[in-house]
Amino acid sequence: MSPAWPEGFLWGVSTSAYQIEGATAADGRGPSIWDEWAKVPGRMRDGETGDPASGHYLRWREDVALLRELGARAYRFSIAWPRVLPLGRGPVNAAGLEFYDRLTDALCEAGIVPIACLYHWDLPQALQKEGGWPARDIAGRFADYAAISAARLADRIPFWATFNEPGLFTMFGHLTGGHPPGLKRTDAYLAAMHHVNLAHGGATRAILAVRSDARVGCVHNVQPVRPGSDAPADAEAAGMLGELWNRALPDAQLLGHYPDRIAALMEPWIRGGDLAAIRAPAAWIGVNHYSPVYAKHDPSLPFACAFTDAPRDGTPATPINWRIEPGAFRDTLTDVHARYRLPVVVTENGYGAEEDGTTLEDAGRIAFHEAYIGAMREARAQGADIRGYLAWTLLDNLEWSGGRRVRFGLVRVEPDTQERRKKASFAWFARLFRAAPEG
Ligand code: FCB
Repeated sequence: MSPAWPEGFLWGVSTSAYQIEGATAADGRGPSIWDEWAKVPGRMRDGETGDPASGHYLRWREDVALLRELGARAYRFSIAWPRVLPLGRGPVNAAGLEFYDRLTDALCEAGIVPIACLYHWDLPQALQKEGGWPARDIAGRFADYAAISAARLADRIPFWATFNEPGLFTMFGHLTGGHPPGLKRTDAYLAAMHHVNLAHGGATRAILAVRSDARVGCVHNVQPVRPGSDAPADAEAAGMLGELWNRALPDAQLLGHYPDRIAALMEPWIRGGDLAAIRAPAAWIGVNHYSPVYAKHDPSLPFACAFTDAPRDGTPATPINWRIEPGAFRDTLTDVHARYRLPVVVTENGYGAEEDGTTLEDAGRIAFHEAYIGAMREARAQGADIRGYLAWTLLDNLEWSGGRRVRFGLVRVEPDTQERRKKASFAWFARLFRAAPEG
């Protein structure tokens, strides 16, 4: 086992700005691509928008008190780029930065290690108008935003993540079109991936220039991609989708090259020096994992692959039909550690359900986390260097276009009043965090 981090095992929870903050027009915040997306009827379930979400922008003190009561040692939150830089570049919005400053102080005062993520999908709309991620210039804008955030906060924030799930938001936003900006274009998708990687490299160096011992990483979605049938074409589709979904971003960032199947496809966007610029010093890798996914061959689509339904083979699933397979989680963690040889922090893992609030008993969620934490411990016993587990998520929130009906929180949030009520899983985690401080 590698030496312990000074902070010890990072038990805690994760959240993201757009999903919890609300107050999307308060104190000078600029619009993000999700605000723009939510304006179009039919895109967001129940016509939801980013307001009120979980009302965290107003209730953050109460939420820090909840974290303290939970016994969380660490808390991953995201900074909203459009709060800090309403136009994505140019003048800083002092009130926006002030919000994260106060939050950071309160976390430190509560003895909770802050882990800041710079991008959980809420790109300033002004930068989208300039071309968004497919436009190369954005990498520099992101590094500037990272430098501004770090200059203000890195004295107190030891852990930084550049992006949340870049493999997911580049694909859904530019290839399959279900997330903003809603493009379905292969060239835009490949360019977006490369520019996100460049942005990661630039931002990492910008943070390290402010605080040389900051531990900078990136949070990746890692879900094994399995073939939907025994057909060889489906096996090939799973291989392709796996490289796009799980590897194109971390391989470039941590190994310095794109995976085999897509290396040639990326060439039009790669300029001299890019791969070295992308491979910035990384201190850890964040893994978000929920369940395996399945792929099928589809020659009508770019890359000839698509997601498909999991086989109906009796494997249990959560109420939103995500397969429950702790063994796949264990293997994902050992694989990630073996491939990248970095300390791993589980930055998301959780259980979604539509819950009506008549009861706060969430036995299914507790059983899920118990099984997955057991699997994480197996991975550690097999030698995977895992330094933390952050459950998704503290509060019921805006589950993107799924609206607020699907709930992942340990704390229930009433849709009309944003009143917080602790679920049984909250008490379960509070006991666990106190009983097993070292994981
Ligand atoms: C992940 C996202 C997170 C949340 C969970 C359920 O892909 O990072 O924001 O929506 O899924």
